[in-house]
Amino acid sequence: MLKLKRFGVSIEQALLEKFDAHIKKKNYTNRSKAISDLMRKEFVVEEYKKNSSIAGAITIVFNHHKRDLMDKITDIQHASHNLIISSQHIHLDHDNCLEIIAVKGKYLKVKELADKLNSVKGVSHKSLCVSTAEKCI
Ligand code: NI
Repeated sequence: MLKLKRFGVSIEQALLEKFDAHIKKKNYTNRSKAISDLMRKEFVVEEYKKNSSIAGAITIVFNHHKRDLMDKITDIQHASHNLIISSQHIHLDHDNCLEIIAVKGKYLKVKELADKLNSVKGVSHKSLCVSTAEKCI
């Protein structure tokens, strides 16, 4: 069981009301969990800026009718197979595909892979969602 610590915080009323409305929309039932999650999120950002080991997901959307596009995406992924845990291909509609690539490795290498995939002509959207792979707090 984690040891919990209580502390008092002074904050502008308007800001607190906005925060409460925001966390209610996100289905938090109390401020403690919401504040803890914000702190963790901030620490994750700090960690990966130091080129720490991260785990995450790259998602790309592309039009599979573009010439040689699937081959290029596959080649890039094979060249970085050491960073890729798994991938899932979803046929979104007649033209577009979504690929979700689970990744694990040093942040800068993972970011380089995400940028390479995004630079392929025909890739219309890319996102890189990062979580820490080192210590969880
Ligand atoms: Ni497809």
